Amino acid sequence: MPDTADGPYDPFAMIRATTGPELHAALQGVRDAGGAIGFVPTMGALHHGHASLIETARRQCEAVVVSIFVNPRQFGPGEDFTNYPRPIEADLALCSDLDVDVAFVPTVEVMYPAGSETVVRVPELSRHLCGAARQGHFDGVATVVARLFGLVRPHRAYFGEKDHQQLKIIERMTGDLAIGVDIVPCPTVRESDGLAVSSRNAYLGNSERKQAASLHSAMMSALTAVRSGERSVTLLVDMIRREITAAGPCDIDYISIVDSETLADIDTIGGHARICLAVRIGSARLIDNVAVDAPDASG
Ligand code: PAF
Repeated sequence: MPDTADGPYDPFAMIRATTGPELHAALQGVRDAGGAIGFVPTMGALHHGHASLIETARRQCEAVVVSIFVNPRQFGPGEDFTNYPRPIEADLALCSDLDVDVAFVPTVEVMYPAGSETVVRVPELSRHLCGAARQGHFDGVATVVARLFGLVRPHRAYFGEKDHQQLKIIERMTGDLAIGVDIVPCPTVRESDGLAVSSRNAYLGNSERKQAASLHSAMMSALTAVRSGERSVTLLVDMIRREITAAGPCDIDYISIVDSETLADIDTIGGHARICLAVRIGSARLIDNVAVDAPDASG
């Protein structure tokens, strides 16, 4: 077996690619063999939420690619781009443990070469919820994901339902542009107290971390009320707001109940609804959502 500059040749070792040509070379074999390529785009700081996306991709595809790129274009002025955690060695070790075939870790120059100017915008879905407060955020997300899809050329891409709005925007973009990638939604992974796993949970101090569980428990209380017959969105939102503010100091960006597909506000629970919220606790801006399960809602 030939040795490489990095040590003994290991046919199962994860490949780290930085450029498009390196990525294409790494995937050529599986592509030629007609294998499915599964893709998990990330900004790194990987946690069990990412691990569950990677594990799902691993079960469904012959090759798995994970990208790690903190995308400057989806951060607004004053947001946490500079401080965003970048534990690259730990991220690569986790990818390797999870049997990822290729970790794609591009530079800003690879993602946005000099002269590139195209912006992908999904205007209607982007103007609701997080898009209202984070101008340009979803343009940055859609643009980077479109370019990543162009570079990786995956068959399937895996996105968490925790970022429900992002998921809907990527689904719409992929369909509108006939990109030919199957988008696979994956359930939100939660801590034992219900807090959705997120890289930004690392910003929470001990008492803030306890307080943060109120986001999920407040949404669960609203679901219980819906199951008991409550249909008024105003009352449900009020109930959620009261439970979250009772848990401690926070800054509520929004608590909304929307149509799950269009993300437009609704007045009365019915059809496919979703409770979505964004709340700042300390320096962490946390988002979460749950589907409103009201089988008898139209009645
Ligand atoms: O969800 C994320 O981590 C990012 O928005 C994504 C999809 C990797 C694009 O930068």
